[in-house]
Amino acid sequence: MAELLWLNGEIIPLAEAHVGIEDRGFQFADGVYEVIRLYNRKPFALDQHLQRLQKSAAGILLGVPMALPALAVEIGKFLARASVTEGMIYLQLTRGCAPRSHAFSQTKPTLLFYARNLPPLADLATSEGVKLITVPDERWKRCWIKSIALLPNVLAKNQALAAGADEAVFIENGLVTECSASNIFAVIGRRLVTHPVGGKVLPGVTRAILLELAPKLELTVDERPFGEEEARRADELFITSTTREISWVARWNDRTIGQSRCGPVALKLNAALREKVQRETA
Ligand code: PDD
Repeated sequence: MAELLWLNGEIIPLAEAHVGIEDRGFQFADGVYEVIRLYNRKPFALDQHLQRLQKSAAGILLGVPMALPALAVEIGKFLARASVTEGMIYLQLTRGCAPRSHAFSQTKPTLLFYARNLPPLADLATSEGVKLITVPDERWKRCWIKSIALLPNVLAKNQALAAGADEAVFIENGLVTECSASNIFAVIGRRLVTHPVGGKVLPGVTRAILLELAPKLELTVDERPFGEEEARRADELFITSTTREISWVARWNDRTIGQSRCGPVALKLNAALREKVQRETA
């Protein structure tokens, strides 16, 4: 079955969809996006993603062109027609088309989303850990906005892959912010340490869920900046995102992290996350 796309209220084949050359998303990266996980055909943590979309949009002085509950209904209708069971939704909102000018003018925003299957995740306990490399954080100071302007992230990710690693960790003034497409956590004793959200870090939905689950697992949440050296000496390190859930870190540059397998805290958090997913998408 052909892949479908929801574009400004219409469901059409993805391959036949067009947006204008002068769409400001294309010319200025003037837009925001979301990636939402689908389990068993159901979107997971949809409300959190739509709330973040609205905040990101407000952050670039753009409104979501429909009320969030109505958008959730459209997503539901779309999923009933799309043949995607385990995967993700990519949703993008741009300021729309206008003759090219830095100045905004009256535009009709372009809102679109589509769904795609993802391969099943490896079992965390037996998975190979990921490898990280350090890159300087040269991004802008509004990383809380989930902007489609991702060039620093794209370059960092490709630098990691070229070095035989999986992810790049952004470091600013010796402090760990986040990775090119994931948040990062250090486990130090019973403390779960991660950079506070704000200008330097995306408020990850997976991150927020884990921070909520942590106290139930007798972990103390410690949202504070931490240094590269402290991170590399942590008992465990792991990274999180909607698509990867939790991946444990085995190496960072030329150093081994923690033990040679996924640590117990990451495993417990993963079990709690999986249980929540099961409960909410059964
Ligand atoms: N990225 N930080 C950055 C820079 C990210 O791009 C992402 C996710 C995260 C994790 O956020 P969440 O848990 O809400 O997915 C943190 C998505 C998956 C992407 O760009 O594909």
